[in-house]
Amino acid sequence: MRERIISPQKQADEIKLDQALRPQRLADLIGQERVRENLSILIEAAQGRGEALDHVLFYGPPGLGKTTLAHIIAREMETPLRATAGPAIERAGDLAAILSNLREKEVLFIDEVHRLGRMVEEILYPAMEDFVLDLIVGKGPSARSIRLKLPRFTVVGATTRLALLTAPLRARFGAIFRVDFYDQEALELIVKRAARVLQIDIEDEGAAEIARRGRGTPRVSLRLLKRVRDYAQVRADGCITAGVAQEALLLLEVDELGLDEMDRQVLRMIVEKFGGGPVGLDTIAAAVSEEPDTIMDVVEPYLLQIGFLERTPRGRVATPHAYAHLQIPYERAEQPALF
Ligand SMILES: Nc1ncnc2c1ncn2[C@@H]1O[C@H](COP(=O)(O)OP(=O)(O)O)[C@@H](O)[C@H]1O
Ligand SMILES: [Mg+2]
Repeated sequence: MRERIISPQKQADEIKLDQALRPQRLADLIGQERVRENLSILIEAAQGRGEALDHVLFYGPPGLGKTTLAHIIAREMETPLRATAGPAIERAGDLAAILSNLREKEVLFIDEVHRLGRMVEEILYPAMEDFVLDLIVGKGPSARSIRLKLPRFTVVGATTRLALLTAPLRARFGAIFRVDFYDQEALELIVKRAARVLQIDIEDEGAAEIARRGRGTPRVSLRLLKRVRDYAQVRADGCITAGVAQEALLLLEVDELGLDEMDRQVLRMIVEKFGGGPVGLDTIAAAVSEEPDTIMDVVEPYLLQIGFLERTPRGRVATPHAYAHLQIPYERAEQPALF
């Protein structure tokens, strides 16, 4: 969430590392069994028919593998991948240019697909459905519309907000997959695999300790692994044991459930300032000086997942589990009826 500013060199290194850490094939993917199995059927069937893959949409919180899955699809289909994102396609013409350059079966990965503009979406519908591009040439009374045929290609969309996708766009995806949080076992395997790639010395208990605090999220687990590695190198003999991991994570202010300062701040705010809720998203966001989108996309999903937060029609409510974790006694008065 709040990243420190790092030098361009270190940033470039991190990007290279991230690429090395990305599973390349479906078989390398750890966890997400349901998605993996469904995808493998989809891919095998399309390949058997020699066709382009149907359009696929992945949705779920950040850091769970949506981008990774898009790349895996392209690799399994043995096609190139062109990556773009909703906010990056500003005008209909930008999308028309991308579409008219696609090759047969190519994967067009659109990240944050819920953020496409309306005019851009209008171009995308016929392209996805009928593989045609409708262009207006000329201006004024002499303007006419021409229809270009496009090769059969595959859109892979990713979004953290399925609900913000327009119904017509959603309807054009042949397969929609929810990407879920990972369990402890899968995260442990991911941490150990990454440690091997990065040549980090780690004991099983050290990996378990990191996985336990990975917020069910590969990206978070891998980030913790890198920070714990730094700690092990500077403050210990380089090997990540359970003890070293615990010390490092304590220093990073990641608690035993993987909650960080932002998570705790949100919970504490709801409990201490708003009597446990219900309280609206915008109010929470303002109280902790964050964007509502960040709270909704990054902070809330995991707190909901572990049962610390509930969404009600009147706002967010902290549960007794959250109180226990914050070590605040749970003594809520009955909510007075509003009317
Ligand atoms: N199933 C997985 N196995 C191993 N590593 C994974 C897996 N899913 C995600 N990762 C790693 O987690 C990080 C975040 O994944 P990414 O695909 O960028 O997530 P998203 O696009 O959903 O935000 C990447 O570094 C990726 O290598
Ligand atoms: Mg992504």
